[in-house]
Amino acid sequence: MSKIKIAIQKSGRLNEDSVKILKDCGISIDNGIDQLKAETRNFPMEVMFLRNGDIPKYLRDGVVDIAIIGENVLIEKGKDIAIAEKLNFSKCKVSLAVPKDFNYNSIEDLQGKKIATSYPNTVTEYLDAKGIKADLHQISGSVEIAPNIGLADAICDIVSSGSTLFKNNLKEVEVMLTSEAVLAVSPKISEDNKKILEKLQFRIKSVLKARN
Ligand code: PRP
Ligand code: MG
Repeated sequence: MSKIKIAIQKSGRLNEDSVKILKDCGISIDNGIDQLKAETRNFPMEVMFLRNGDIPKYLRDGVVDIAIIGENVLIEKGKDIAIAEKLNFSKCKVSLAVPKDFNYNSIEDLQGKKIATSYPNTVTEYLDAKGIKADLHQISGSVEIAPNIGLADAICDIVSSGSTLFKNNLKEVEVMLTSEAVLAVSPKISEDNKKILEKLQFRIKSVLKARN
């Protein structure tokens, strides 16, 4: 019998809530997070624990059939990938922020400035639409430190509670998008696994309904 392969975040903000929603759907994952691959009980599913940023490619290539992932990651790297369900957790924004003492009036103030980010495509699209040309520095984490070490004038990153911005003396100046966890589907999913996906979606819908 066929099994659906699902990718969930290996570590980080989505991991715990992703495991939890599967559990609430009556699907228990057999072994711990330390293993990269796990079997499930009560449902024809295999779980792969992967890095967030790699998941869009795995979906595109059909290495996994579905994934629980932040919409923001799909917007950055997987615009071609379909969303089956919004999951109503891990809500965040992707925002531009500048040092508190930066006298910011409008997006024009970022013209020609250095911006550090892990979301180059999202920022480029946003700035292009507003006719702003900036100098992007792509880094993969701890983006908020960049202005303090002289690497950038501004940053673009995820804002959730806002505490990372606060701790680094930054202020949010533009919200580029809002995001939440979603269930994404590979364009290469087989007909058999589509049927399993339908069953999973049915369970997810009732879980989300009960949570409200
Ligand atoms: C994420 C994100 C922000 C922060 C936002 O970083 O990159 O820095 O969380 O959350 P907050 O608004 O609640 O502070 P994370 O701690 O996951 O580490 P990373 O940047 O090194 O990936
Ligand atoms: Mg961070």
